[in-house]
Amino acid sequence: MIHFLRMIKGTFPTDKFEALDTPFYYYDMTLLRETLDTIRRETVDKPFRIHYAIKANANPEILRLIASCGFGADCVSGNEILLALKCGFPANKIAFAGVGKTDREIHIGLDHEIFCFNVESKPELEVLNELAKAKGKKAPVALRINPNVDAHTHQYITTGLNENKFGINEQDLPDVLRMITDAKHIRLIGMHFHIGSQITDLSSFEDLCVKVLELREWFRTQGITLPVINVGGGLGINYQHPNHCPIADFGSYFRLFDKYLTLEEGQTLHFELGRSVVAPCGSLITRVVYVKEGIRTKFLIVDAGMTELIRPALYQAYHHIENISSEKPYTPYDVVGPVCESSDVFARDQMLNGSKRGDLIAIRSAGAYGETMASTYNCREIPASRFSDKL
Ligand code: LLP
Repeated sequence: MIHFLRMIKGTFPTDKFEALDTPFYYYDMTLLRETLDTIRRETVDKPFRIHYAIKANANPEILRLIASCGFGADCVSGNEILLALKCGFPANKIAFAGVGKTDREIHIGLDHEIFCFNVESKPELEVLNELAKAKGKKAPVALRINPNVDAHTHQYITTGLNENKFGINEQDLPDVLRMITDAKHIRLIGMHFHIGSQITDLSSFEDLCVKVLELREWFRTQGITLPVINVGGGLGINYQHPNHCPIADFGSYFRLFDKYLTLEEGQTLHFELGRSVVAPCGSLITRVVYVKEGIRTKFLIVDAGMTELIRPALYQAYHHIENISSEKPYTPYDVVGPVCESSDVFARDQMLNGSKRGDLIAIRSAGAYGETMASTYNCREIPASRFSDKL
């Protein structure tokens, strides 16, 4: 059954692609719209707020569509804030996270009066208070707390454990609260969490809810009620079967929070979804440059590499791959890029239709952390992007 599902291919306008230079990112805007509609449907009657995590895909075309659906933005740099504003996200729906916000970036947030600074340390709190004081403002703050909850995902995308650099540790909270009481230019509005990314075992989110409730209770004992609870992002997608499961399981995800995190009067629950919004709609389209007979395998050498999509090299990530020019019998290939690194491998023993020089290859589920993580290593160019509704 699984084997059969892998043989189902996506639908691509291969004829139109033939005339285009490769590699490029191709975005199925219909799928993106359906995904956004699903999220809206699942959250419409709940006190839930979505801030799209711009780091997943910062293509202006995509940002404009997401902003037009009424979502907010989760930014991790001053430049992301400026881009979000340019693409139509209102300042009062922008959250700003990150362990190393510079003064320039804090100024950007303060000057535009963004919704919230997700503060990750005591020194950051001090600097934010000083900079806000100089402007005669009060900075809205959610404390990013490291909940020490295991997300059961790849170690490089786990963020909520004690050994990770992110967030304020629980034992520092009394100190931080004392600082906030003294800081005249900080307005504490919430708590923020993010335990990791590509989380497919939803029980990790249950663990997070338990922790959130425990901390909410602790704040209450300190006489503080917080209107904003932000549980970050992390919902995973099905990389194995992009054609069978093109939309992440938002239903189960939101139901889980509804069930395990009962909100108090006036409290809103905020989410920072990135991957689950944009990963499925994007494919990296590349051409076969050479088919090379190796000792153990056949190498399919394509014109995209780790410079366009680093996820397989960096996280040993699986991306489903299809030859969209061929219907020949399936045969295994090692699909590799042209970059001078042995890690420049998209997949080993990938079953593909018999392939030849010039065939077009689609590397699927690449809409998140693909284009945004592209580099110019080997003096390569940043890939172009194409959209299904503008071909
Ligand atoms: N909020 C915060 C504070 C984050 O750090 C992240 C992702 C998100 C939200 C969005 O998480 P998502 O819903 O996309 O899982 N480059 C890696 C993923 C890094 C994620 C970084 N933080 C990858 O390609 O798998």
